Amino acid sequence: MKRLLALAAAAFISLPLTPAIAQEAQPGTPGAGDPYFPDQGNGGYDAGHYDLTLGYDPGPDRLAGVARISARATQALSRFDLDLVSTLSVRSVTLDGRPATFSQSGSELVITPRSTLPAGRDFSVIVQYDGKPEHVVDPDGSMDGWIRTNDGVFNANEPQGAMTWYPGNHHMTDKATYRFTVTVPRSRVAVANGDLVSKVTKDERTTYVWNSREPMASYLVTVSIGKFQLTDTRVGGYRVITAVDSKLADSAKNFAERHAPVLDYFSSLFGPYPFSSTGGIADDAPEVGYALESQSRPIYPHVPSESLLAHELAHQWFGDSVTPTLWRDIWLNEGFATYAQWLWADKQGTRTVQSSFDAAYARAADDEFWQTPPADPGGPANLFHDPVYDRGAMTLHALRRTVGDESFFKILRTWASEHKYGNADTAAFIALSERVSGKQLDALFDAWLFKPGKPSL
Ligand code: ARG
Ligand code: ZN
Repeated sequence: MKRLLALAAAAFISLPLTPAIAQEAQPGTPGAGDPYFPDQGNGGYDAGHYDLTLGYDPGPDRLAGVARISARATQALSRFDLDLVSTLSVRSVTLDGRPATFSQSGSELVITPRSTLPAGRDFSVIVQYDGKPEHVVDPDGSMDGWIRTNDGVFNANEPQGAMTWYPGNHHMTDKATYRFTVTVPRSRVAVANGDLVSKVTKDERTTYVWNSREPMASYLVTVSIGKFQLTDTRVGGYRVITAVDSKLADSAKNFAERHAPVLDYFSSLFGPYPFSSTGGIADDAPEVGYALESQSRPIYPHVPSESLLAHELAHQWFGDSVTPTLWRDIWLNEGFATYAQWLWADKQGTRTVQSSFDAAYARAADDEFWQTPPADPGGPANLFHDPVYDRGAMTLHALRRTVGDESFFKILRTWASEHKYGNADTAAFIALSERVSGKQLDALFDAWLFKPGKPSL
């Protein structure tokens, strides 16, 4: 009603209608437009904060959740989607406190507000849901999402696991802050990203509250549960929070202490560590087969080697703070983290960067490996294949050899600072490299990133 009056008044004094007022309300798109995962993410709004209240008991294997999501409409919306698998049942949805209509199909939760949302409007959605969560199997055959272990959950969500346990805008371009309130049986620990705020045990259950104040892509969220030993200490300048599976306790004695030297070295090369706390989760989950750089708190399926620790900590700058805009650009994560492993091995005196490069480059020219250009891996099944990691890292070394150490590390530091907490793509990295070095680098990046075949040196 008010809106109609405003429209009439605007027409009367013959001001041009702003597009926000003139725009017909439309449904938000069911995907963010990423060709590798077309249904992932949603259009028409921007999520700013998630407040997730979860209860989980590994015995009955039931999750009950309340997701409070603060968002802003980026267009006039007649309805919009959140991503949530339909094996979890949504019990109610409210929008700004009023019940909204909803339906679930596939991985889309479609929400229709009572009245349309004008462009620019801040709104808050509350979704109540529950059920037995199930992980997904990725195009590369890996488990992803809410992954059961013998004592709880290994929760890793790259590239599409987030939809298996909470509703959201699950494409990496929509970062948000998070607060987690997780209640588990008192024999278990629930560990998430960011800072531990409180831990309260009442009767047979413990509630953990975690706060993640820096913006985060949903594939980097974790809420992992197990019989963990939780430590929260200051080491060097860092707040280090670790959770170690009690079965791994012996081999994980100095796990917390091992973080500071790696972070100090990377800070000296890439700029300040971007998050308010660090640490990691060492779970006993050999069936998972990979580690993940969950923001501020990587998760490992065993106690990590020095090299794996360096890989996941380097991702905190490259992947977590600076995040790609499309899955196709994943080499910006994996190539950089692999190169950082080479740097850490060199720093430790284990192997020089040059010899890591030489070993990777020694693959025969007719090896399948050279057929996948890292900046165009060809589809979601290849996201985490060797070329993305090793040829991505080789690309950085080729760049370093071409522009020299000073420009090279300036490029990395500028990349980390200019895109801190944001998203950036391969084209932006090439442009930055040319700007900082003052060199024309098309031929180099073309050969290393975009063309199949073994680049010559
Ligand atoms: N980003 C992780 C790492 O390099 C790997 C994630 C693998 N995920 C998968 N679904 N295959 O540490
Ligand atoms: Zn990685």
